[in-house]
Amino acid sequence: MKRDLIKYILITENEKDVYIQGWVRTKRDSKGFAFLEVNDGSSLKNIQAIVEEGVKGFDLLKNISTGASVAITGSLVPSPGKGQKWEIKAKEINMYGEAPADYPLQKKGHTLEFMREIAHLRPRSNLFGAIFRVRSRLAYAVHKFFQERDFVYVHTPIVTASDCEGAGDLFRVTTIPHEVIKDGKVDYARDFFGKSTYLTVSGQLEGELFATALSNAYTFGPTFRAENSNTARHAAEFWMIEPEMAFADLDLNMQTAEDFVKFLLKDVMENCKSDLEFFSSFVDKKLMERLSGVLEKPFVRCTYTDAVDLIKKSGKKFEFNVEWGIDLQTEHERYLTEEHFKSPVIIYNYPKQIKPFYMRKNDDGKTVAAMDVLVPGIGELIGGSQREERLDILQANMEEHGLNQKDYYWYLDTRKYGTVPHSGFGLGFERMIMFATGVSNIRDVIPFPRTPKNAEF
Ligand code: 4AD
Ligand code: MG
Repeated sequence: MKRDLIKYILITENEKDVYIQGWVRTKRDSKGFAFLEVNDGSSLKNIQAIVEEGVKGFDLLKNISTGASVAITGSLVPSPGKGQKWEIKAKEINMYGEAPADYPLQKKGHTLEFMREIAHLRPRSNLFGAIFRVRSRLAYAVHKFFQERDFVYVHTPIVTASDCEGAGDLFRVTTIPHEVIKDGKVDYARDFFGKSTYLTVSGQLEGELFATALSNAYTFGPTFRAENSNTARHAAEFWMIEPEMAFADLDLNMQTAEDFVKFLLKDVMENCKSDLEFFSSFVDKKLMERLSGVLEKPFVRCTYTDAVDLIKKSGKKFEFNVEWGIDLQTEHERYLTEEHFKSPVIIYNYPKQIKPFYMRKNDDGKTVAAMDVLVPGIGELIGGSQREERLDILQANMEEHGLNQKDYYWYLDTRKYGTVPHSGFGLGFERMIMFATGVSNIRDVIPFPRTPKNAEF
């Protein structure tokens, strides 16, 4: 009914009864009538209703204020006022619930910090309504992209016994009482799963098992990292999309990543027009220009080695110095994408010592077939690689990384039996939403963000 109403408003020229339900954004009283701006969350636009004395339910108006929930029946008439084409001339008004004067969204212009404290109510604001509509559309577009290309959606486990990235930022999952753990030795064989288990940091390893059977697979689910970094781009719980493609080399991997990012942007630009216009007015004036720019050109590709040279030659002062062999910091990544190339850029062929065990060793013996997609305003949006498909080299890599091959027998089996070259990547869903909306803090694109010292709601 709600959606129909919006379509209806767009197509009709005649007066006809309509029914709306929603929350009052503002009320303006006049002698003998009142204007209500009502919003049901289906779009940014409110619909204005005029309620005149004598209308059924008019007495309720004294208790209706910003935040109250109402239902209104009336006729849709051309609006003489500015700002809207149509308004509703009420015939009847009902109230579901009033909103007392301490309703926190009373006034506009709250800070984003304050809005985080009321994350249970912030979807009722223009900004957060728009953000979460875009988030929803992007999730749909993710599936659209992969389903249209015959990728199989795999639900990889959330509880796992392996550490894919080897970064050690794991949340332990246990039913052993805290006191027992505190007292020192713990026998995890007696724990719920009979071994040490954690929340997953990535669905990649399990994704690979499916790609080496079904050719093209993808995961899209929550991932967890106990990184104690309180930045605007890190969350302890975030969603990741991880496609994995058999018979794909690094080149195809990079091309798929680029096509995927462009597809998502294009989809959201077509389907969330008014929300994006809102972001470009109130969040980031350069948003539309930047997004269109991204769609127009191919992403720049640059090896890690060349990237290090460019950073060194830039003459810019960075907090961290760059030397071949160390990981690029966000400041370096942003220099490359925002200042040097002024474009999304894919950095590839990283030193093997800064990358996980599963990446494919290049012939130079020093680098691996890794790639990161960096975008303006964000830095790293995607990380991926071609995987090491040669059993003996993979085993040697695991040795170097101090991993126990027994724990990964199932992963090694894909190399032992009918191994194939394959590649994949992970796109941080929240960072994609930030990129598409211009919103600069990850806490504002997650309904209920989990960050160090915060698991409210
Ligand atoms: O680069 P990462 O760590 O790669 C992987 O996890 C691989 N297993 C992916 C793969 O090849 N299948 O993470 C991938 C992306 C990053 O580029 C970033 O966008 C996002 O996930 N990400 C985070 N987003 C929010 N908060 C965090 N703490 C994040 N850590 C990574
Ligand atoms: Mg990465």
